[in-house]
Amino acid sequence: MRIVVSIGGSVLAPDRSAERVGAHADTIDGLVAEGHDVAAVVGGGSVARRYIETARQLGATEYDLDAVGIDATRLNARLLATALDAPADTDPVESHEAARAAVRRGETAVMGGTVPGHTTDAVSALLAETLSADLLVYATSVDGVYSTDPDEDDAAVRHDHLTPGELVDVIASIETAAGSQAPVDLLAAKVIERSGLRAVVLDGTDPSRVTDAVAGDVDGTDVVPDD
Ligand code: UTP
Repeated sequence: MRIVVSIGGSVLAPDRSAERVGAHADTIDGLVAEGHDVAAVVGGGSVARRYIETARQLGATEYDLDAVGIDATRLNARLLATALDAPADTDPVESHEAARAAVRRGETAVMGGTVPGHTTDAVSALLAETLSADLLVYATSVDGVYSTDPDEDDAAVRHDHLTPGELVDVIASIETAAGSQAPVDLLAAKVIERSGLRAVVLDGTDPSRVTDAVAGDVDGTDVVPDD
């Protein structure tokens, strides 16, 4: 299979523990060893948030704040690439075209962000599109997509299965509620819908769940396109 693994910055390196980054790298190496083509996208986590907050206080424009965020995602991407055994450039891949070329060469492409205006959720969905990936796995800090934000609403129910269209509707309604945070952003959901991508949203704090999902054992939300 061709697989894109999207790892939230707060999942990969909440504490910059080498052991944790190594465990995520081992998971990707394991998938490559099984014969899968793998590309990874890494988010910025708390490092991005802290640098953005400081730059905001210094008067940076929103565009430049995004650029700061992209730098943080690439810092995390470099950590992951450094830990991989599979052939991978330790310089984070900066475009989807370069990622596709790397995968065609048999390498594991590791990306952070690309351009201002979106997040690595969208970068990952666009990468899955670019690669015609069979599976897009979002390794997040929550165990799936809920009906409402579980941090805000005790009655929130996890969706185990969604179509891409249903994913867009659920994410749109979560993002409309003030202060609520969706595990995958709306632009990413719309890309998943327009290309009919198969995607899984799971709790990636234990990276073995990614391996299980690839093997068909999904503990999270499984987004499966209708025929
Ligand atoms: P993340 O993808 O980590 O954003 O990128 P996020 O969704 O806010 O983080 P999590 O999932 O909650 O940890 C960090 C920031 O970098 C910028 C955005 O400002 C984003 O919020 N960014 C990232 C871009 O502008 N473009 C990109 O392609 C990626």
